[in-house]
Amino acid sequence: MSPERAENRIHRDEYASALEQAAAISLAYLSRIDERPVGARATAAELAARLESLPLPEDGIPGSEALAQWFALAEPGITASSGPRFFGFVNGGSTPAAIAGDWLASAIDQNAGLWLASPAATHTERGVMRWLTELFHLPETWTGTLTSGATMANMVGLAAGRQWVGERLGFDAARDGLSGNPRITVISTGEIHASAKKVLATLGLGRGSVITLPSPDAAMRPADLRELLATLDVPVLVVANAGEVNAGTFDPLDDIADACASHGPGAWLHVDAAFGLFAALVPSHRHLVAGIERADSVASDGHKWLNVPYDCGFAFVRDADALRHAFALDAAYLTVGSDAPPDPLTMVPEMSRRFRALSVWCALRAAGRSGYQATVDQCITNAASFAHWVEDHPRLALLAPAPLNIVCFRLAGGGLSDEAADALTREVVRAIQADGRAFVTGTTWRGRAGVRAAFDNWMTTPEDVRILCEAVGDAVDSVLSGAIR
Ligand SMILES: Cc1ncc(COP(=O)(O)O)c(C=O)c1O
Repeated sequence: MSPERAENRIHRDEYASALEQAAAISLAYLSRIDERPVGARATAAELAARLESLPLPEDGIPGSEALAQWFALAEPGITASSGPRFFGFVNGGSTPAAIAGDWLASAIDQNAGLWLASPAATHTERGVMRWLTELFHLPETWTGTLTSGATMANMVGLAAGRQWVGERLGFDAARDGLSGNPRITVISTGEIHASAKKVLATLGLGRGSVITLPSPDAAMRPADLRELLATLDVPVLVVANAGEVNAGTFDPLDDIADACASHGPGAWLHVDAAFGLFAALVPSHRHLVAGIERADSVASDGHKWLNVPYDCGFAFVRDADALRHAFALDAAYLTVGSDAPPDPLTMVPEMSRRFRALSVWCALRAAGRSGYQATVDQCITNAASFAHWVEDHPRLALLAPAPLNIVCFRLAGGGLSDEAADALTREVVRAIQADGRAFVTGTTWRGRAGVRAAFDNWMTTPEDVRILCEAVGDAVDSVLSGAIR
């Protein structure tokens, strides 16, 4: 260690070298992202040895060297999840403008929880939420807020709903808690997303307490909802899906909104539209979310189809009072001047928050509405062409129709029993992941093993879809030839 480093361990003049190093590593990575294997290339044990066993450094090194050191250590564990052939989960990538906005947000390091801490961040967020409501054809009178993802957007919507239902039942859930008060009834289907259940657990409503309507076609049937509501003389919370994660199915939102509207004691309709909300961007698929503007709250994701970096989601709520009562806080040291808009922290669980709005602002400003329409359109076309390829493949079958951007399929034919097809389908998933040309993930759909491919990355081209087909076809051949041997 040099004497000057000992005197002042964190050096102000290192901004340039540290940020230039970040730019150099990032640009090298991004320029070759579709050449690397899509999945990780090291085992958990290897990565633990590289990343978990280092002693706490006693002495420092320049930030640029720290960055290079980390990249060399972690590189085999990096997945090309923001690249064009990662079709696992529902991930999305990041546009150049979105990444640049995210970097700048770190550099200027604004606390986006409070107007006083950053008027620029507060007003930018209000501006992007207005843009997003317009982009998705949601009512401009709604209140919107950025979150860390759709889980927290579900949290925001369902906390507001819990507040609203509680007030109708005669108590203030945020102030008094749930204990000793009437139970809040939650209705959904078996397709409710795991994150919404996690939120119900966190909010004290109980992940196991949902009244689960049957959904033989993987969508809520409004007649079932009406029938159930007719037996309930209390206000309720209804959780609907716009884009179920396994197979991409949609609940009939307009009819569900009708059923909710006719429930005398009141119903708060929350829609989990983590990626399905983007159907609103293209006239060809807007019908899938028809009626979403009649909901009380909507959750969606930025880090999926908006292609901004992790983490970013958005929540939209009709009743601003229910939202603010749910997340109100009283702290003398945070008191703000009277002409300021409400602090963003009054609409979310956290207090201090990252300035996510900057990345969203840059992404939307750079691509414009038409850029996002083109991206969504391209992803839907890619999904449809892959679904057709699956349908035409002699040993594959769709597990469900692919209405938007998720294709769910499995091995079929050849006289295989369901159980044998399940086991081989899981092997196909592993074989595709190990191969590295493309990445898909597995699931269980209606009791049967499936493979899922989600299309929501701005970069994916028809050529990438061709490579996906090739990788899936080769995996099927190799698994089946192993099974025959
Ligand atoms: C329908 C749905 N809801 C919620 C989530 C949770 O989103 P996040 O991981 O952004 O919290 C997902 C994630 O895939 C999803 O598909």
